[in-house]
Amino acid sequence: MEFFLDTGIVEEIRGAAPWGIVDGVTTNPSLIAKSGRSQKDVITEICTIIDGPISAEVISTDQEGMINEAKELATLHDNVVVKLPLTEAGIGACKVISGMGIRTNVTLCFSPNQALLAAKAGATYISPFIGRLDDIGHSGVHLIEEIRAIYDNFGYPTKILAASIRHADHVRLMALAGADVATMPIKVMKSLFQHPLTDKGLSSFLADHEKANS
Ligand code: G3P
Repeated sequence: MEFFLDTGIVEEIRGAAPWGIVDGVTTNPSLIAKSGRSQKDVITEICTIIDGPISAEVISTDQEGMINEAKELATLHDNVVVKLPLTEAGIGACKVISGMGIRTNVTLCFSPNQALLAAKAGATYISPFIGRLDDIGHSGVHLIEEIRAIYDNFGYPTKILAASIRHADHVRLMALAGADVATMPIKVMKSLFQHPLTDKGLSSFLADHEKANS
């Protein structure tokens, strides 16, 4: 399973990179806005930190505008993946852009049928938003299970990129449900390391070592 960081803050990515388990980065217009920098600057800098897929989202809502933006974003770096919303224009743009050899991430997916459309349009990634579905009383996990089954039924190569992940247990559930990728905020990635018994065990190992060597 691949782990992506979901952020536009380069310091967070620099902090996590030495762990060696960050396979890529996703951004969206809200995350870029939080950085207070331009998308171009943020994406270009991220590409110097992580050598993996880096998603950058288009702002246009019409198909032609999306295609033009996608071409421009793809010139920033070979690792750029163009993020497109799951709309009629976004799916149409995905089909065209995929045909040009540009990798795509279709975002704002909330149903299996939407995921099917993205796969048919040749999307490299589909981003179902788990947390936002849970927020309205639906099951994000069930959505991932259904998309997994549909993609496996037809052998679609589109990767399932579970997004809107809010806590460590979401990551466990995504792994069990067969998501190819989980993208998460730094806080969630850090929490994956934590277990009280690890801390307790380590401090007693160190105390015993200290006693034996004093
Ligand atoms: O990048 C898209 C997604 O991960 C957003 O998450 O927490 O805003 O629902 P959230």
